[in-house]
Amino acid sequence: GELLPWRGERQKVISPIQLRRDDGTLEALELGSIPRGGVEEADAALAAAVKAYDSGRGAWPTMKVADRIACMQDFTRQMVAKRSEIVRLIMWEIAKSLPDAEKEFDRTVDYMRATMEALRTLDNDNSRFQIVDGTIGQIRRTPLGVVLCMGPYNYPLNETFATLIPALIMGNTMVFKPPRFGVLLFEPLLEAFRSAFPAGVINMVYGKGSEVVPHLLESGHVNALTLIGSSKVADHLKKMHPKTNRLRAILGLDAKNAAIVLADADLELAVKECLLGALSFNGQRCTALKMLIVHSSIVDRFLERFSEELAKLKIGMPWEKGVAITPLPDRAKTDYMIECVEDAKAKGARVVNAGGGEDYATLFRPAVVYPVREGMKLYREEQFGPIVPVMPFDDIETALDYVITSDHGQQVSIFSSSADDIATLVDPLVNQVCRVNINCQCQRGPDVFPFTGRKDSAEGTLSVTDALRSFSIRSMIAAKQTEPSKK
Ligand code: G3H
Repeated sequence: GELLPWRGERQKVISPIQLRRDDGTLEALELGSIPRGGVEEADAALAAAVKAYDSGRGAWPTMKVADRIACMQDFTRQMVAKRSEIVRLIMWEIAKSLPDAEKEFDRTVDYMRATMEALRTLDNDNSRFQIVDGTIGQIRRTPLGVVLCMGPYNYPLNETFATLIPALIMGNTMVFKPPRFGVLLFEPLLEAFRSAFPAGVINMVYGKGSEVVPHLLESGHVNALTLIGSSKVADHLKKMHPKTNRLRAILGLDAKNAAIVLADADLELAVKECLLGALSFNGQRCTALKMLIVHSSIVDRFLERFSEELAKLKIGMPWEKGVAITPLPDRAKTDYMIECVEDAKAKGARVVNAGGGEDYATLFRPAVVYPVREGMKLYREEQFGPIVPVMPFDDIETALDYVITSDHGQQVSIFSSSADDIATLVDPLVNQVCRVNINCQCQRGPDVFPFTGRKDSAEGTLSVTDALRSFSIRSMIAAKQTEPSKK
């Protein structure tokens, strides 16, 4: 346990980026290697976390809040010193553009600082005494135990730390499994974890998620599970715990966010925001716009302007200046994009721009698909990639129905220049999703805002204070008020 040393076999980490040789052939890039890992190592990591928690008696769970914050500050300082190394690894491992990788790093540090700040105020609870009906109560916010944390490949650092940092700083001990794509970037942090926190508090595990994670959960020693990833995987994993109902789960899951573009929308603004919303980081954001529902009176003009703007997006390598579309993490992803487009075409839709094909195995040219209808994969499936499904509507009920009947409930965007129309839509929509965006794309940030979803999209709430609450329990110490003794 305790992060390292891992013994045994190692496996290669291959970048999704392929370089073209002078003779035109493509070269796969090996970025480094990681331990192969497996259940044996996972057991050691879990044992270290259990020992460090020591049923709540460990150095970390009993440490004063101010001291825990000091450890986190030390870690943050060390992490900031490694910014350029980590940013470059994000870029190479998941082909995120350099400015986006930098943004991911910087917003993560902001989130860490905001979490420390929030904990100081949240901790006011600890010194608050209440006297009710002769009972004196001191409320304390206490940790849950061992937290198993998993992040996604699209924001490997930010989304892993979105749960790891608040869970950790609340006094829990951690086992964390980095995503398959986006694993090397944690290596520069291992030493900082080790030097900033008491032994065994953070334990990183490698290995195949489908073997290691169920194994850890089956042990019964995991008190909370955090996963930013797929709804199906989360459902499966929760069942692995011997006392499913006792496992606290903080989950950020699938989403199929829609933008509803009304007839009176500012078309240029809607095009600009929908383009960003649908295609930033190749559409690989849980918050990405994955369906555009456009009023039929403006849909032709919308598609024309959208395709014109899309054609200006630079497709290329993540280090190229101004690049917007970059390679996907693996061939399976490109194959799925092709499958979705072909399915829609076979059922009567067309690709309205010049997209829809691959430049090489992992570089897929964005495709705008119209009209998308019920029965096509793109109607309900979360494509999580550079495809923009568009459907027309005449009656606003059709657009609302799409959101209401969805299995997902994360966010929605509305585009209109009428304050009245917007006001009429906001109320029914905010009760269906967890964030309604007016005349702008869907997004999680700023990260201090609550981030959650309804139906299959989430369990629990993230954000700074919500996350601190999610990973703790309000315990209390109670005593009967007594009369001072008279001598
Ligand atoms: O993939 C989910 C991310 O948290 C999305 O964050 O909307 O700020 O890009 P973002």
